[in-house]
Amino acid sequence: MSQSTLFQSGDGSQAWLGYQPMAKGERCDQYALYSNIAVTKSDDIIQTAINELSQGIEGLLGQPAIVSEYAEGTSGILLGIFDQNGIIDECFAPEVRSAVGGEGYAIKTDSSNGRITIGASSSVGILYGAFHLLRLFSTGCAVDALNIVENPINQLRMINQWDNIDGSVERGYAGKSIFYSDNKVTDNVERIRHYARLLASAGINAISINNVNVHRVESMLVTQPYLSDVARLAAIFRVYGIKLFLSANYASPLEIGGLSTADPLDPGVRQWWHDKAAEVFTAIPDFGGFLVKADSENRPGPFTYGRDHAEGANMLAEALEPFGGIVIWRCFVYNCKQDWRDRSTDRARAAFDHFKPLDGKFMDNVILQVKNGPIDFQVREPVSPLLGAMPSTNQVLELQITQEYTGQQRHLCYLVPQWKEILEFDTLIKGEGSTVKRIADGSLHGNRYSGFAAVSNIGDDTNWTGHLLAQANLYGYGRLAWNPELSSEQIAEEWVRLTFGGEEQLVHTIQKMLMDSWEIYESYTAPLGVGFMVNPDHHYGPNVEGYEYSMWGTYHFADCYGIGVDRTIASGTGYVNQYVGANVNKYESLESCPDELLLFFHHVPYKHVLHSGKTVIQHIYDTHFEGVERAIALSDKWQLLSGSMDERMHKQAAERLAEQAEHAKEWRDRINTYFYRKSGIADEQGREIY
Ligand code: GCU
Repeated sequence: MSQSTLFQSGDGSQAWLGYQPMAKGERCDQYALYSNIAVTKSDDIIQTAINELSQGIEGLLGQPAIVSEYAEGTSGILLGIFDQNGIIDECFAPEVRSAVGGEGYAIKTDSSNGRITIGASSSVGILYGAFHLLRLFSTGCAVDALNIVENPINQLRMINQWDNIDGSVERGYAGKSIFYSDNKVTDNVERIRHYARLLASAGINAISINNVNVHRVESMLVTQPYLSDVARLAAIFRVYGIKLFLSANYASPLEIGGLSTADPLDPGVRQWWHDKAAEVFTAIPDFGGFLVKADSENRPGPFTYGRDHAEGANMLAEALEPFGGIVIWRCFVYNCKQDWRDRSTDRARAAFDHFKPLDGKFMDNVILQVKNGPIDFQVREPVSPLLGAMPSTNQVLELQITQEYTGQQRHLCYLVPQWKEILEFDTLIKGEGSTVKRIADGSLHGNRYSGFAAVSNIGDDTNWTGHLLAQANLYGYGRLAWNPELSSEQIAEEWVRLTFGGEEQLVHTIQKMLMDSWEIYESYTAPLGVGFMVNPDHHYGPNVEGYEYSMWGTYHFADCYGIGVDRTIASGTGYVNQYVGANVNKYESLESCPDELLLFFHHVPYKHVLHSGKTVIQHIYDTHFEGVERAIALSDKWQLLSGSMDERMHKQAAERLAEQAEHAKEWRDRINTYFYRKSGIADEQGREIY
């Protein structure tokens, strides 16, 4: 795609940074008072903030901003770092200044001087403050009495790209990679710069730029000439306050280093990684570190050498430590060559069983990255019991923005409500209040590192995410990582206003569509937490027995009597025992297990009665019939918005919503037919089942 066709209004490419011209009127006049930008002292990141403010103001007000150095009495927007210039310090009381952390900021309007001041203790704080102010402008908020202090709640707010150097994207549903093509790092850095803008504006501060499955060529990203290209990318992200990481191949010493082993305890291997770290940090002095998928889904790792994951991770951590780098080590470790006949092995148990015994053995610059659920980003899973279970080990929560199992950006599925539920889950690990959000923000155990990571959902499609409305997931992830207290509704509304403007009917329609979408998707796909039932490999569309007799450990055990996985302590795999306190009983007992997770924890007859009062089989029929109706209604609602936005944007989502409505029928009929044939139990309402 040529650059000239990118980033024009009306095609979704500007995402939430569109800055459409405002209608003349009160607000517009108010904002016009602030179209001068003055700065006390600049650097690359503050210059980025100035550029962003200028671009935003010009877009909204239709006149260029005037940028100058601060002089006595200047009005407009004033930017500056505390303790560097008296004028900034004068604007904020000492207690405000001390309340602003490393990435935080304060914003204050002084209407007597016609000035809005953004003060921070670092340049990146200024940048975040600038984006905050632009958000207020773009959503039409009053700015004549601002008095804001903001700090991110989470330390690491990371994006994981699963991009391959051949230009493909693992689990990518929005075109090709924006980073690579034909085994090269792209020269089209404009697109990457825009991505950095989007990420920073949502609060992201770290990115890993290659797939966790590190293949042959990608292994060489840590060697010249690739390393210079990586350094080029790091420079683009740096001015947006985003640190760059690489996914590393654990077997690199063997595969690219010419050694005969990758054993973490081998002195030659240790030296190799040490030298490699030195080389990488010479090229990129603020390099973040390595993200590692080891001993997982056929990737190499320390198990090959009889070493455990602490030994494996610490070896890399030692190499990175002198340079301030960190190792992010993924806990997605399980037996992917299971025999489906073997009922004693439970994939859900694996991460906890592997890692929990290693608590306290990891170096301080190792972070374990734990997927939100014990299996794999299903539409509904319980929270992984490993989260918070290792008090002496750094952990980050891993989410998946890309909709691998939630409709692949062909179906609408706004994931923020799912993530909120995860964050609010009380693990009870340190008694009541031990919520996942407190594990992610580091306050529960007081670890050195903590935060969020998530798999990106973007590609080189004009609108970044394929489904235009899937942009809300990227935006929402960033906002939630910044502040998990924001509500799903708030984030949805903010995104809609920024993307489509403020017409009230439109805002409420799209917000509601987003808010309903996760439940709708769940209702016509795999029921009651049982998961999968998708086509193998690509994972799109229904296939009830797609994984039932395979080696991947994801089964539902449906027969003519019942369905579900018995993970209880009493008669099942004992997975329930990985939880703590009252959560054990909650999941162990049929009486208290929440309906939506019933089949994750229990194997029950089709006529088992749910808390809702319905039998399992009738629930399956009802939700699948209703789900289709609701999917059709989504599409109908969107049709009514034609004319209230650019026709191209309307069309993009209209096509996807129509496909969803059709495809939901396929899900409904496959699932309902399967269970009708298995159980022989008819639908109480006599609807058509094949
Ligand atoms: C899922 C996904 C894979 C991915 C893996 C991971 O299993 O299907 O494509 O590599 O997760 O998280 O590493």
